[in-house]
Amino acid sequence: MNIISGTALAKEIKTGLAADISAISARRGRAPKIALVLVGEDPNSASYVRNKGKTSAELGIESDTHHLPETVTQEALIATIDELNRDVTVDAILVQLPLPQHIDTEKILNTIDYRKDVDGLHPINAGKFSCGEKAILPCTPRGILSLLRYGHVEIAGKHAVVVGRSNLVGKPVAQLLLRENATVTLCHTQSRNLADMVQQADILVLAMGCPGAVTPDMLKPGVTVVDVAINYIDNKLCGDLYMACHLPDLEAKAAAITPVPGGVGPMTITSLMQNIFEIYLERN
Ligand code: GUN
Repeated sequence: MNIISGTALAKEIKTGLAADISAISARRGRAPKIALVLVGEDPNSASYVRNKGKTSAELGIESDTHHLPETVTQEALIATIDELNRDVTVDAILVQLPLPQHIDTEKILNTIDYRKDVDGLHPINAGKFSCGEKAILPCTPRGILSLLRYGHVEIAGKHAVVVGRSNLVGKPVAQLLLRENATVTLCHTQSRNLADMVQQADILVLAMGCPGAVTPDMLKPGVTVVDVAINYIDNKLCGDLYMACHLPDLEAKAAAITPVPGGVGPMTITSLMQNIFEIYLERN
């Protein structure tokens, strides 16, 4: 079984990116800059945002974190984003999700200038992407496609089954695989016969965050599994399918899998860095 290492691929891409960023920043007289907006005190979100700032710094990208209290009003959050939209020194804006219940996430994502929308979540970017136009791609789907290419996984003509339909992962991954000429089935919590669908997958993307819902016995021999989930079981990080107890059975069934940790996670942040750099290049 081929373990498709996101850690190794991320390292390779980041080395190239750092060199490109250094050369172009010197020529332009300024580095790319991302504004990271964090609302509230969720420790996971805070850790993700810290990591995004740290990786940016390693690659020569400037970052500013705008940390707003959990109780911030929607109007105040919109005012912060409006200011970042107008700030010519800011190339890219990322509002860390999820946002507190009292905030309308859709409205916030709509407020970001779509040209600075580094997550590709603004309806203009999502619409352009869905029409096959050039658009900023959401980071996790972009990372997944890079991993499949890196693992030499054939996509065209294959049956890709995506489990999970979020705007952040499931929906855009399904569209991306369709663009790569896969036959795509998109499953979700209401899908009947999930086991039957999973059994048909040549490429299986698991983005449910529900460990144990899919087990190795359901897999078609030779499948490639992309495990997007991050779960903690007994204080150990694992995926929806990639977990110690399943490894011998996976070994017998799957042709390839992305591990957890060290698979999709490092590629999501690397794709974010690629998106920041591409937006910066477009802005001149
Ligand atoms: N929360 C979890 N993943 C993401 C992501 O890719 N972007 C944003 N903005 N928030 C997230």
